[in-house]
Amino acid sequence: MVERDGRRLTRRGFVHASAGAVALGGGGLAALAACDGRPTGTSGSDDVDGRATLRAPSSLSVAAATLTAAPGTARLSDSATAPAWLFNGTSPGPTLRARRGDRARIRLVNALGEPTIVHWHGVIVPEIADGHPRRTIDAGATFDYEFEVVQRAGTYWYHPHAHHRTGAQIQRGLAGFLIVRDEEEDALRLPGGEREILLLLQDRSGDASAFDYAATEGDHLAGMLRHVPYGNGVRRPRLDVAGARYRFRVLNASHARSYRLGLDDGRPFTVIGNDGGLLPAAVEASEVWLGVGERVDVLVDFRDVPVGTRLALQSLPFTIPSGPTVAHPQGIAMELLELTRVAGGTMSEPPLPAVLSTVPRLAPTDPAAVRTFTFRSSAHDRHLIDGRAFDMADMGRVDYRIALGRTERWRFLNDSPIPHPVHLHGTHFQVVSRTGGRETIYAYEGGWKDTVLVMPLETVEVLVRFDRYAGLFPLHCHNLQHEDMGMMSNVEVG
Ligand code: C2O
Ligand code: CU
Ligand code: CU
Repeated sequence: MVERDGRRLTRRGFVHASAGAVALGGGGLAALAACDGRPTGTSGSDDVDGRATLRAPSSLSVAAATLTAAPGTARLSDSATAPAWLFNGTSPGPTLRARRGDRARIRLVNALGEPTIVHWHGVIVPEIADGHPRRTIDAGATFDYEFEVVQRAGTYWYHPHAHHRTGAQIQRGLAGFLIVRDEEEDALRLPGGEREILLLLQDRSGDASAFDYAATEGDHLAGMLRHVPYGNGVRRPRLDVAGARYRFRVLNASHARSYRLGLDDGRPFTVIGNDGGLLPAAVEASEVWLGVGERVDVLVDFRDVPVGTRLALQSLPFTIPSGPTVAHPQGIAMELLELTRVAGGTMSEPPLPAVLSTVPRLAPTDPAAVRTFTFRSSAHDRHLIDGRAFDMADMGRVDYRIALGRTERWRFLNDSPIPHPVHLHGTHFQVVSRTGGRETIYAYEGGWKDTVLVMPLETVEVLVRFDRYAGLFPLHCHNLQHEDMGMMSNVEVG
């Protein structure tokens, strides 16, 4: 066992290939040598027209929204387009905006020509409104969602959830943000307007097939891993920033890729929130892991950056020994967003309060009880939880039961050389520990989470309590290929 920078690497060794801080577990060396650390922005003939300016999606109030899912054309840049599937004509779809306590009334119109249903990821809603795969509607049908926005301010999102079709439909462009605000957050006077950036990250190919779903054999195991970074649907995005503090709400809406976010000058992020809203207190982090489905809410201060400086938000390289052999594996270095410091903006910023939010710690109802969920992927293209696949013929099958109001200790065990970002509907949970692999939990995984990244050989323990709605809520891997191929279970809450 090797320890470096507070991280312990075990057995086959999960390797952090950060510059000057390379620690190797047994077998890690060969894998490290195979690591492709080349920044994607400098390669390939399929993305030659340079960078495209990051666009903010349009906004819609949840109080009276209609989302029409239909085929259309995505704009990859000023000059390039690609056939795609879109919500209201754009990818991402419009940002749905709510305040805590609002009544959401959202109509989904399915003009895709195939079944779909929409799920509000991270939003606590009654089962009927949760977009469970068994609520899938036919081509041409509509579904009316109505729910009270009960949870805290935060960065949530929406996407299709029809079984066997989720991966294809998100990959074709169907996803958007759902932003909740409340008084607690207002009081912090966080950067807003042009200084509040929504950033939906995806990896795609760089050409007109960017929004196609075309999973190869390798993709069936690893998920669709591609090499060109997209932000809010545009290819290799760039953004001008003034001399001020910015808020970035970053969502990983990729098919399968985990990112290890960092700024290229080593400047730390001030992390203020994650999946379930504000952290109890801000934490500084020079790198942040972000698995599929996870969100992170960070402040970055550009006041001391000289005008004309170019910075980049990167995904730092890492390697996963024994991972699937695919063209663009997990861990390739990527330049996700280019930032250029422009003139203006310098001003004094209000200090960030020491306490951002109050997050009560959960305590298990029965401290001795633990439930373990084993996530296993095999080369025969099967992705299972506890040996079972989600059953298309019986989508209401109950796999696990938990009483409403009971707090349980759950362990997610990854018994495969592939990352599994584990997601739970219907509640948020608290991350308690991680053993194996990275051997640590990060301060930015505090607060409330709905998705947690479980890297190969890791076991992540969480405390779970459903305290709002009874019903049938999915627990699944958010690698979209894994989810579609069955790595999904039903938890009956009642
Ligand atoms: Cu983001 Cu079950 O989903
Ligand atoms: Cu969800
Ligand atoms: Cu998985």
